[in-house]
Amino acid sequence: MSAGIDAGAGGGAYAGKLALVTGSRRGVGLLIAEHILKHGGRVAGFARGESTIDHPDYHHFQVDVGDPASVQQGFAALKKVTDAVHIVVNNAAVLTSQYSMIMPPAAAQAMLNTNLMGAFMVSREASKMMRKGKWGRIINISSMAVSLEPIGDSVYAASKAGLTTLANVMAKELAPLNITCNSLAVSAIKTDMLSQLPQDKIAQVIAGLPIPRFAEADDILNVLDFLASERSSYITAQTIYLGGVN
Ligand SMILES: NC(=O)c1ccc[n+]([C@@H]2O[C@H](COP(=O)([O-])OP(=O)(O)OC[C@H]3O[C@@H](n4cnc5c(N)ncnc54)[C@H](OP(=O)(O)O)[C@@H]3O)[C@@H](O)[C@H]2O)c1
Repeated sequence: MSAGIDAGAGGGAYAGKLALVTGSRRGVGLLIAEHILKHGGRVAGFARGESTIDHPDYHHFQVDVGDPASVQQGFAALKKVTDAVHIVVNNAAVLTSQYSMIMPPAAAQAMLNTNLMGAFMVSREASKMMRKGKWGRIINISSMAVSLEPIGDSVYAASKAGLTTLANVMAKELAPLNITCNSLAVSAIKTDMLSQLPQDKIAQVIAGLPIPRFAEADDILNVLDFLASERSSYITAQTIYLGGVN
């Protein structure tokens, strides 16, 4: 799962950039944080737990993105380390998959708070920092669930659909500041989140994809690099689905 960090790599596509990655402790967020570090960027990570990354250009902040006060505190601490954020990857999310009639309301609320409100609060605060440099890339990690609308994922899929809408509206608001907002909709990749789901259900979903396999790390990092690139200044309010989902 881990892409590993080559501390000696230096330079690279992310040189001179600071990326704020939420949910950087595990899974896709860890992969993305390590990739940006490997390619010369600095990374600020937000997660509830302690850091799992040991790198001189990595700064960890224990933040619950679902709690607006915690996000505000995280940004106050971040501003002691840097006055510039160039890239935001809204990756932190929680998933409870359950039929709507028996979904615990607290679990539904946690998905909305973390997956949607968390991304809103982080984008809101980060864009104020990006405004000063008149450059920014906001990338929301969405899901194929938005398109497939799977049974059991009513609230999760709705939170991710909301995330896409959030990016599209913020794209209009932030375009004059040279800040783009896009979504990267992941299909399925082996992480803690995926392992909590029934594996036979996942196998069925994968078999039905136009490209019937799991996403690999590089499938995600390829799109991340594209959306974060200097050359993508004319790409905003877009969602890129992996695996042929649309
Ligand atoms: N894996 C898949 O197949 C798949 C498919 C489609 C979309 N996605 C999307 O990809 C993204 C990453 O998923 P993943 O599979 O890597 O999940 P994961 O393995 O469960 O990791 C989730 C990460 O988010 C952090 N996090 C969770 N709640 C948080 C909160 N309230 N505040 C701050 N950080 C929080 C976790 O760290 P702490 O627990 O320490 O907070 C962890 O680092 C998510 O947006 C997910 O919806 C994944």
